[in-house]
Amino acid sequence: MKKTPARLSMIATRLSAALVLLPILAHAAAIDMQANKDRFVDSLLAQMTLQEKVGQLRMEYAGAQPNPQAMLDTIASGQVGAMFTAPTASQAGLRELQDAAVQRSRLRIPLFFAGDVVHGQRTIFPINLGQASSWDLQAIGKSARVAALEATADGLDMTFAPMLDISRDPRWGRISEGYGEDTYLVSRIAGTVIRALQGPTLGASDSLMACAKHFAGYGAVEGGRDYNTSDMSERRLVEEYLPPFKAALDAGAGAVMTALTSLNGVPATANSWLLHDILRQQWQFKGLVISDHGAVEELIAHGVAEDGNQAALAALAAGTQMSMSDRYFARGLTSLVKQGQVTEQQLDSAVRQVLATKYDLGLFEAPYRRLQPGSGPDNEARRQHRAHARDMARRSLVLLKNHDEVLPLSRHATLALIGPLADNAVDILGSWHANGEAEQAVTLRQGLQSGQAADARLLYAKGANISDNPQAFALLADNRVNFDPRPAETLRAEAVAAAQQADVVVVALGEARGMSHEGASRTELNLPGQQRALLRALKGTGKPLVLVLMNGRPLTISEESQWADAVLETWFSGSEGGNAIADVLFGAYNPSGKLPVTFPRSVGQIPLYYNHLNTGRPFDPARPAAYRSRYYDIDDTPLYPFGHGLSYTSFSVSSPRLSSTRLQAGQGLQVQVTVRNEGMRAGETVVQLYIRDRRASVSRPVKELKGFDKLLLSPGQTREVTLHLPASAFSFVDRNLRWVVEPGWFDVMVGLDSQTVQTTSFELMP
Ligand code: BGC
Repeated sequence: MKKTPARLSMIATRLSAALVLLPILAHAAAIDMQANKDRFVDSLLAQMTLQEKVGQLRMEYAGAQPNPQAMLDTIASGQVGAMFTAPTASQAGLRELQDAAVQRSRLRIPLFFAGDVVHGQRTIFPINLGQASSWDLQAIGKSARVAALEATADGLDMTFAPMLDISRDPRWGRISEGYGEDTYLVSRIAGTVIRALQGPTLGASDSLMACAKHFAGYGAVEGGRDYNTSDMSERRLVEEYLPPFKAALDAGAGAVMTALTSLNGVPATANSWLLHDILRQQWQFKGLVISDHGAVEELIAHGVAEDGNQAALAALAAGTQMSMSDRYFARGLTSLVKQGQVTEQQLDSAVRQVLATKYDLGLFEAPYRRLQPGSGPDNEARRQHRAHARDMARRSLVLLKNHDEVLPLSRHATLALIGPLADNAVDILGSWHANGEAEQAVTLRQGLQSGQAADARLLYAKGANISDNPQAFALLADNRVNFDPRPAETLRAEAVAAAQQADVVVVALGEARGMSHEGASRTELNLPGQQRALLRALKGTGKPLVLVLMNGRPLTISEESQWADAVLETWFSGSEGGNAIADVLFGAYNPSGKLPVTFPRSVGQIPLYYNHLNTGRPFDPARPAAYRSRYYDIDDTPLYPFGHGLSYTSFSVSSPRLSSTRLQAGQGLQVQVTVRNEGMRAGETVVQLYIRDRRASVSRPVKELKGFDKLLLSPGQTREVTLHLPASAFSFVDRNLRWVVEPGWFDVMVGLDSQTVQTTSFELMP
């Protein structure tokens, strides 16, 4: 048939009618699916005994060989709802557990399997603080997707990740697990990671349900001491600490984990304001709330419960629905229901949620969906994603200093590679390395060797142990890190001798991975043990000195950074770390990372973060005066500010141009800048957009990140960058805990770090 104009217009009309109908149909289908799910869950619930219901709320730990008979029998008797699996649990073992649930238990309700896939499963990516340093949402998303592919193929249905705790205290070892100090950046990453882990539909066999943790305020433990008290204004909590969780839920996160800690005096696991008022009522969260490991039991130590029954009661009543590895939740609930202290309705609502989670994961339909047999040894090379690991790692490295362009290095130079982390395949994987194997990690020594030209030489000496205390390794990392028992002077002398023969000295210093981990807080943030002395001795050789840092938190390295000609922050960079670092050192990749966290000069400055309030007496380094808010014994600036990171090329940024300087309420703003690569190499940089609300009913930060864009420019290339500020970017939490926008003047700042910015302003009209 000929397509006459009349016919074309009829097709167009039908098409647009269909397009209008599509969302309606999708909505109807969603309602239908929800109704099916509700019907299914209700009918199952109606068949369950009290003991079976309580069993569903229990998550038990499966060890590396999860098949002891007692556990299988407990599962078969319907007393376990889910398993927390060790990263090394074999698939055959997990299948045996699932067999017990779906073949032997009365109602054949499948288990779900959860584990800590924090920055990779078999292929280990940089720790999350490192990934955040990339400011590259695409790369971070891809890493999470890979982690989901590998973890689901290893039998997992859920990961206890992402960790979305904002932290401004590098003494806290878990700062390494999160994405840094800034609410906006962490929120953007949160949404990206959730979508990547869970995929388009949770029921798919390669979708891994996310459990956003730790709700909430864990990153603000006093003194940075793990598990300590968090106490902060509700205004600060709502404005700065909660938005990443809200972003995670908006992206569809299936579960949330409560924090082990107390918040403003009430332990998170028994905190109905957090778990009910905010999570359920305000945010309308429809997913599962799981306690952290043993958190229900710990309510007794927190002093809000007398015994196990009271602990279980407090947790369930507040909104905790499933308990991870504690003795009391399951045990106590049965008698609490019998005594009438917990109503059957309360219990049912938690059980309904667990069943709904399993339904969403597609487990009723196919309990072995993520437990397919025959995929061979877990970590076979073909089951890894090394190319992306290398790419992600390169993007995570932050060039903090590069005096006289000592970097990049020549591939032909004789290098002396020194340091306890230089040939260390264990620590480079970082904490929470899941199924990643040290034997498969590339050390810096291996990376440099493969990156060097055939005529080049690589000298190596360990130079020092990470710490003086050999026990620290057993406790903080593992005993595969060889402690060199020779005297420190001998190790140092060997290193100096190697350095003297080299053109350039590359020294890899930092922490054992266990030092930046759960339960691993520090009061000093210097290079531990003899490492500082080693660096000073190497400085004494007069050779160009490149400091490669491997660590899980900002370190206080004021002097060390002066001794070194170049400083490259590499965090714990994962399976391909050594290759990625070599790529940057030799210039095969131009570094583009930017700090997601402030580096203080001294522990005494902590908490030090870029988006602080101005105070009534701000200190102005250009005009120092008495009685200002400052320390007298230190330069008040950070050592390296949030957003800092150098490149082998240089970029210029124009002052920002605004789409309007007078905004009506509810209007957004376009901010345009011209960015130019002024150097001779192609490179990426991150344009950062900050705002300041000059006057409001509560004091506003001197700067707040509200947008960024990472772009690649070839030498001499210029690009117009437009960043969009939605109307919501101007809102804040007022004294009544409401998000409001108040009229008045705002500054708009753009720069390549948080300190050096160009400013313009606009007025938001009443
Ligand atoms: C940690 C959680 C972790 C859980 C299971 C707890 O001690 O706080 O982050 O997911 O253990 O390993």
